[in-house]
Amino acid sequence: MSPAPCKTAVLVSGSGSNLQAFIDRVSRGDISLDLRVVFSNRPDAYGLVRASDAGIATACIEHGRFPEREDFDRAVAARLDEWQPELVILAGFMRILSPWFVNHYAGRVLNIHPALLPAYPGLDTHQRVLDAGERWHGSTVHFVTEELDGGPRVLQGRLAVDPNETAEALCARVQAVEHQIYPEAANWFGQGRLEFRAGAAWLDGKPLETPVIADFF
Ligand code: GAR
Repeated sequence: MSPAPCKTAVLVSGSGSNLQAFIDRVSRGDISLDLRVVFSNRPDAYGLVRASDAGIATACIEHGRFPEREDFDRAVAARLDEWQPELVILAGFMRILSPWFVNHYAGRVLNIHPALLPAYPGLDTHQRVLDAGERWHGSTVHFVTEELDGGPRVLQGRLAVDPNETAEALCARVQAVEHQIYPEAANWFGQGRLEFRAGAAWLDGKPLETPVIADFF
């Protein structure tokens, strides 16, 4: 008998196209995650609509109600813990998490960042990549630690930059890559193949010195 699907919470702040990729892959049965709740810090996040349409519970707490970051994070965790998540997926969740939150879910939070980390942490990655004339760009799935965009990398999707394309076009291509790689990496976690051990990502019982790279060109 296969093990029970991994209880998963997904945190979004916006469109939720990555969330949609998870929903679609779960409903096709090709990844085994139990998407229990979708949380947003923004009541107008379209990701909440996607979740409701898929019959997934939703929750929302607006961060502006909390002057202190950690107080917001504690309220979020109290809400999420009603669903006992084993895995927390950040899918376009545009809040920096406090050390308290990271420790509360130590080794169980994944993020996707739209760049080939450690290059281009932070915001506005697509324009910065174009401005710098980079040949390669992509997205990185990584474990979340206290260091912003700095946790152990798991899987990168890489594509070739067309110097004539706009940041919007590049963003769309990167997001199409994200929709492939993020559910895949999360599924590895759900299957017990991917773990966070002693500050490193481990896949199939071996530490990942460098992330797995998937080329999309
Ligand atoms: C994604 O491209 C993701 O990589 C990025 O936000 C987008 C969310 O899109 N995340 C970050 O920039 C985090 N620093 P979505 O809401 O359509 O999934």
